[in-house]
Amino acid sequence: PTSPVVLGIESSCDETGAGLVRDGVLLGQAVASSMDEHARYGGVVPEIAARAHVHAMAPVVREALDRAGLTLADVGAVAVTAGPGLSGPLQVGVAAAKSYAFSLGVPLYGVHHLAGHVAAAALEGEPLPNPCVVLIVSGGHTSLLLVRDLARDPIVHLGDTLDDAAGECFDKVARILGLPYPGGPAIDRAAREGNPNAVRLPRPLSGPNDPPYAFSFSGLKTAAARWVEAQRAAGGEPHVPDAAAALQEAIADTLTRKAVRACTDHGIGTLVVVGGVAANSRIRALTEQRCAAAGITLRVPPLRLCTDNGAMIAAIGDLLVRSGAAPSPMNLSIDPSAPL
Ligand code: KG4
Ligand code: ZN
Repeated sequence: PTSPVVLGIESSCDETGAGLVRDGVLLGQAVASSMDEHARYGGVVPEIAARAHVHAMAPVVREALDRAGLTLADVGAVAVTAGPGLSGPLQVGVAAAKSYAFSLGVPLYGVHHLAGHVAAAALEGEPLPNPCVVLIVSGGHTSLLLVRDLARDPIVHLGDTLDDAAGECFDKVARILGLPYPGGPAIDRAAREGNPNAVRLPRPLSGPNDPPYAFSFSGLKTAAARWVEAQRAAGGEPHVPDAAAALQEAIADTLTRKAVRACTDHGIGTLVVVGGVAANSRIRALTEQRCAAAGITLRVPPLRLCTDNGAMIAAIGDLLVRSGAAPSPMNLSIDPSAPL
């Protein structure tokens, strides 16, 4: 009487993820990352990531199955990220998913990476209410989404970053300040000892004539860099905790103000925050405070479900299966530039 076990496969960037979900319940997952192999190039190298996916895919699927106490024979459907993402890495995941689906004789579902991020928020806890506003903030994404019905309607982009993602901004400014990688957690720690008002940083795209839900973080990075230069030119060293606190405050203020505004403008009572940057203590505190003041329910899933993984792809696959959505054809193509 239950729905099938869905195997989800994610390979759009540098994480190889596999997860197993049935009826909204996460049964097991495993992730491998090629992040270390890219570190010395200062960014993800698609060719290296694709090769790493080839190596990691079968072992990661095996590990997810082992953790769930399942075998391949238990899998009743396969979901895979078709886009957006890097072409080579996406090809590896889609090829693997087709092989599993074809050899097991089960349906294949090509899914949108961001729909996966949103679906992951419901894996532990209640299903997401329809509609809801989703703020997705990571090293790769910064978007405000309007989700009406995840399994049936396309996600509406209320706004996106025009340049850097919020996580990228944390990472780049951390580097300027001489803090270790990844920069977000380092800035979060340093900011505890700092005074956010000691350094004046802009609130990008926050004027009355600016697009209300779009973001821009590259100017913030430049402003922070200029401030550091000015300190050094004046013969001093930048006070790292103050700079960290000011940057964190500028990002938290911008993100939370726009997210809450998106909810109130659209009459929506639930805000979901996902992505690695959702770990930030100031962003969490300010979102809680502003949501409470506006009467909005806030949902932040556990962090291990916030970052790229296969469980989130299994989660959206499970929603599609249960809603009776048509499977993808076996000649499913990747869609690297699917609208983010
Ligand atoms: O979702 P995620 O793990 O990976 C992808 O981007 O796909 O997000 C990683 C980003 C990095 O930029 C990292 O610096 C940031 O999330 N991050 C944080 C914190 N923890 C991780 N940013 C601010 N404060 C944190 N506590
Ligand atoms: Zn992602």
